[in-house]
Formats: sequence, structure tokens, C-alpha cells
Amino acid sequence: MERENWTSKFGFILAASGSAIGLGNIWRFPYITGTNGGAAFLLIYITAIILIGYPVLISEMAIGRKTARNPIGAFKKLAPDTPWWLVGALGVLSGFVILSYYSVVAGWGMSYAVKSIGGFADGTDFAALFGSHISSTFSPIFWHAAFMFLTVAVIGAGIVNGIQKVVKVLMPMLFLITFLLIFRSLTLEGALKGLIFYLKPDLSAVNLQTFVDAISQAFFTLSLGMGAIITYGSYLSENDNINESAGYVMFFDTAVAFLAGFAIFPAVFALGFDPAAGPGLTFITLPAVFAKMPLGALFSFLFFILLTIAALTSSISMLEVVVAFLVDEYGWNRKKASYFMGFLIFFVGLPPLLGYSSFSNFRFLGMDVLDTYDWFSNVIFLPTGGLLTAIFVGYYWGSTNAVEEANKNSSFKIGKSYRFLIKYIVPAAIIIIITLSLINSI
Ligand code: TRP
Repeated sequence: MERENWTSKFGFILAASGSAIGLGNIWRFPYITGTNGGAAFLLIYITAIILIGYPVLISEMAIGRKTARNPIGAFKKLAPDTPWWLVGALGVLSGFVILSYYSVVAGWGMSYAVKSIGGFADGTDFAALFGSHISSTFSPIFWHAAFMFLTVAVIGAGIVNGIQKVVKVLMPMLFLITFLLIFRSLTLEGALKGLIFYLKPDLSAVNLQTFVDAISQAFFTLSLGMGAIITYGSYLSENDNINESAGYVMFFDTAVAFLAGFAIFPAVFALGFDPAAGPGLTFITLPAVFAKMPLGALFSFLFFILLTIAALTSSISMLEVVVAFLVDEYGWNRKKASYFMGFLIFFVGLPPLLGYSSFSNFRFLGMDVLDTYDWFSNVIFLPTGGLLTAIFVGYYWGSTNAVEEANKNSSFKIGKSYRFLIKYIVPAAIIIIITLSLINSI
């Protein structure tokens, strides 16, 4: 079968932005910004996105378009008879693992979207409600299955009829909902306190860890290091331009992360709450905020739909990595590969899901199953994948080849600075964050 191509330049940009914009933008970025020095953190983060994220984003797109293959096939094609294909294999493995628990969390989000419709009663103990939701079994399993099913259905339908069609509807919805939530949040009395918490520059909060957090987040949020962008890039045609597309993806991703903070903190502070971290903020603090807010049920529903959309446009890119591998390398039928892999990944997601009930005694470095999956992905798999990709481009395939591929049809040309960044700065930065994160967690 002829390999599909995105049928419009914007189809690819939206799909890659959809991959990038995910749970990381909505529940992680705003919080780390608020607690790591506000505007000072923002500046460091944007620098990391441009100096570390952008070169790797371009590299992955270039490898993808050049080879028109899944990550394993791509490395095999550019470096035949060498072990470089293992970098692709690490990517496929990461896609598999990350999707399994990402789907569990997205399932919680879907379930909260449905719970929101009835409205949350003010005065509910939301910590207890969340605890009892995740430690039950039927409902989280049902929603995890439902989310995996949606992911599988989109990927089974193909690049143009599945991914591209869906992101063309969901991404504009995502932007629209974000703006509605910001409008609601900023028009509450006392909203300013939240903005101050979020953005007030605080240099005393900046230390080495701040840089590590900024670089790790830049990496995670752009979906780098596991071949997702290689895979999406493999459906690019010769007429598309890589440098500009990567620029758009970087811009949209940063914009949504930045804007999510405007939707969240003004409301949290205006209604008298303190921001918590990650899942606590999303599933405990925000429902309490919505319960106190005029038209809260509606905005709560919109927020959890936003979370679900952001997660779905990311999860499809993870499954696509795994499916493209079976389709390209073993000639599997796409639908069959999607359903088969979706099914397997669903089961791999059960241990993290049951980590709050049946498997609640499990501990690895003090973490529950879900945090353990997350730790392996973010501290080991993705940074290692990114590091090896940068080394591959800088020293094996050659930055000259990457530059040539990336500059085709681009009016914005890359050259010297890209080569310098990908050869020296990116590998050095990643080695530092892997080392420091390992020291921190052990
Ligand atoms: N970028 C996604 C987010 O911000 C998470 C993510 C990390 C991802 N790696 C990925 C998504 C690979 C798709 C593919 O939530």
C-alpha cells in the first residue's frame, strides 16, 4: 500500500501540536511555573524550548521525512547493519508504556467530565471523592477502556481519515475552551491574586533544580525522545517545510501551557484556595473551585473535556508510533495492528490503575505503580531517547544531512547554530538532567 501523506500543511502542524499539547501543559506546566519563580521560570523555560526543544524537534521531523518510516525502520534505513535501530526500539517501548498510564489518567478526566454534568456540591470532601474514585475498580477500568477505544478508533482509521480529520476538529475546540475558561477565571473577583502567584518574578526561587525542571518539561511537552515526531514526520511530503512547522508547534504548545495558568490560578485564588501539585490540583482543588463558581457545572465540564481532548490528541500519536512499527516492518493491516496493540496496552495499564487498590502495597523508590511508570518514562526513556537521537544526528547521520533535509522548502533556513546546538548543547544539557534527576530520586 502507498504510504499516506498529510494532505495539508496545517494537518501536520495541528497533529504535531496535538501530540505536544497534553496533560503536561495543563496540569504540570502552570504549577511548576507558579512555584519555581513565576516569570523568571518562564524565561528559563522559553530559552530551553528554543535552544534544546526546537533543534530536537527539527531533527526528529527531518529523520521522519527523510526515511518515511516508523522510528525503528528510520534508524535502520539511515544506519543499516548497526545497533542504532535500538534507539527506535526504545521509542516504541516508551510509546507503549507512556500510553498505558496516560490512558488511565485520561480516563479519570473523562469520568470527571461526566460527574461534572450533575454539578459538584459545595462542601464535598474532594480529596476523599478522588481517593475513592481511583481506589475503586469498575469505573476507572471502564473509562480507561473507553479512552483506549477512542485512541484505537482514530489510529485504525489512518493518517488522513483518522488523525488529521480528528485534530482539525479537536484542536480548534481545545483553543476555544481554553479561552472560555480564561474569560471565566479572570472575571472572578480577586483574580489578580492568582496572576501574582503565577507570574510574579521571584529570583530567590531559581536554583539548579529550576533549570533541570525547565529542560525536562521542555522535552516532555514537545513529545520528544520517543519517535512520535519521527513517526508524524514520516508522513510529511516533500512540499512541506520542516523549520516553519516546528516553529508553529513550538509556539502553539508554549501558548497553551502559558494560557492554562490563566485559566487555573485566578479562579483558584479568587475562590480562596491554595494551589496543589499535579493530580491534586486537577482532581481535588479545581472541582472544589468549580463547586463555588457561578455556572460551575458548565465550566467544570468544559475543563475536563479540555483535559480529555488534550490527552486524546497526544495518545493517538503514542499509539501511532507502535502501530506504524507493525505496519511498516511486518506488513500488518493498520486496523488490526491498532486493535491488537490497543488491547495489549490496555492490560499494561491495569497495574498502574490498580496501584490505588489491589496493588497499593507496591513501592519502587517510594512511588506507587503509576508514578513508577512515569518515572521510568520521564527520567530514563525519553531523555535517553532524546540524547541518542541528538548524538545520532550530530555524529553519525551528520548534522549536514539533517540541515539539508530540514531546509528543503523552508524559507527560514537553519545552519550553524542548529549544528552547534545539536552536537554540543543538547547532549550536554540532557546528560546533566538525567544525572541530576537520578541523584534526586535515589
Ligand atoms: N507532550 C505530552 C504532554 O505534554 C506528553 C508526551 C510525552 C507525549 N511524550 C509524548 C505525547 C509522546 C505523545 C507522544 O502531555
